[in-house]
This record gives sequence, structure tokens and C-alpha cells, in this order.
Amino acid sequence: MNARTLPPEVSIRIERMTGAMGARVFGIDLRQPLTDEQRGAIQAAFDEHLLLTFPGQEALSPEEHLRFSENFGPHQDLPHIPLVDGYPQLQKVFAETTHVKGQVAGQNWHSDSTFLPAPPLGVAMRAVELPEYGGDTSFVNMCLVFETLSPALQQMLSGMKAVHSATKLFGAASKERAVQVNMRENIKEGVGDKEQLHPVVRTHPRTGRKGLFVNKVYTQRFEGWTAEESAPLLQYLYSLFDKPEFGARISWHTNMMLMWDNRFTQHRAIFDYAGQRRLLVRTTIQGETPA
Ligand code: SIN
Repeated sequence: MNARTLPPEVSIRIERMTGAMGARVFGIDLRQPLTDEQRGAIQAAFDEHLLLTFPGQEALSPEEHLRFSENFGPHQDLPHIPLVDGYPQLQKVFAETTHVKGQVAGQNWHSDSTFLPAPPLGVAMRAVELPEYGGDTSFVNMCLVFETLSPALQQMLSGMKAVHSATKLFGAASKERAVQVNMRENIKEGVGDKEQLHPVVRTHPRTGRKGLFVNKVYTQRFEGWTAEESAPLLQYLYSLFDKPEFGARISWHTNMMLMWDNRFTQHRAIFDYAGQRRLLVRTTIQGETPA
């Protein structure tokens, strides 16, 4: 979509970001409630580009941030992401000056919380405090990754399921880590090790586009395969995520809102700012059962 395809009463301008994914949205003040036309235009751009930024925004209050996100679905609580004091629907992504690499969340390619039966549809996030340099987030379009596989591999993966869990992040397997990742305190016992089956390929419920749905952080193995048997194929698929032509890299600004589709993209945080603080605040939009 570009600005020319929008109805004349919508003054939004949408600029594509890269050939793979993403668009920048101009002409909306997110502190105000969205009109039906604005909401429809953002939804259409989100369906198509899977990653939207809204540059040039004034700082949103917690209430405005949540109201914006609820245009696209109800809030989803996650068991492990720290919360903003006084706002249980706002989640915090942060690094302190003392944090070392292993403590900072999100550095491996992942989509959020695929250990849940209905992982998030999307996330709306804005930066509050940024390091002087670095701290970008990279995204990859999982539809594009799937579409570039050979038809035979596409067909095989389309009939498969995979087992997901958070064991390596905050379950039993996380005990082997030298340092623990920065997580919410008092995560309920057992949540990290509960296994969840999801299709390896899922279909976008609005566009019908198919995307690969396995990730380094939560996918343990293919259903019916051992972890050892699964590893080579999973590693091959993960190796594709680093191809720059499948993705987009976002440099944060405190005046920007970002919204990503968590079902059909993956992301990773780049920790290249040791010794500096970084704080982002996010809302999570409830997802459907993958199918
Ligand atoms: C996340 O993985 O949710 C956070 C991404 C980031 O810190 O850039």
C-alpha cells in the first residue's frame, strides 16, 4: 500500500522501509483516539508490512499507549516480562549499566512467548531511555523466509508440528546458564517447562500468507523427532534469518512508536551498548491459536 491507495479523507502517509518488510507511518498523532479510517489504514499496512514505525510522536502516557494498542486486540499478559510500576498492562524491556551480555533479554532471534497456547499477535513498543549509540532491534519476515524455501521442503514443513517451551529461558534448562536473563520476579513454578505444540507453518488469518513458525529461543524439537534429529534442520532454517534481504533493522528514537507482528516476524535485540542504560515500554496484543 502507498498513500495513493488510501481514501482522500485519510491523511496518512505510508513509506515502505525495505524490500522485505516494514513501513513508516506519518500523519497520525497517537496521543489521540484513532478514527475508523486511521485504524483501518494502519491495520491494512500492518497486515501487509508486518512491522510499522510511527516516527515524530510526542511521548505517550501509559493510558494513550494502551489505548493505541487495544485498537488491534486486547492486552495479553505474559508470565515473565517485568512490568512498569503501577501499570500491570505495560511491560518493561531494560538494561542497566551493570548488565552483561547474558542478562539482557531478546538477543537471539525469536518471536515472543511461543511457549504459550496462543502467543501474542503483536507488540507496540516505544523507547523511554536510549544509550548514546547502539541498541537497535533487527526483524526478519517469516513469510518471506518460508516463501523462499523449495516447494518440497515447504510441503514437508507444512505437515509438521514443533514442541515449544521456555525451559532454556526460565525453566529447568536455564539453570545451566552462567547468568540469568533479566526476567519478572516470582514467575509461577512450572510455566517455564510446560511444553506446547504448534504448527511449523502457520497461516495469516487476514491475508492467507504462510509463515515459518519455529524459533531459537523456544522451539525444542519437531513433534515425533528427537532433539538431536531436529537440530540440523532447525539450524538450517535459523541460518536463513540472518540474510539481510529478509529483514529490517530499526534504530530507536524516543519519539517513535513501533509495532510488530509477532506471528509472522522474529526479532533480536542487539546488545552493543554495554555500560549504558536502555529502557523501552511495550504493550502486548493477544494472539490466536496458531493454525
Ligand atoms: C524483545 O525481545 O521483546 C525486546 C527487543 C529489544 O530489546 O529490542
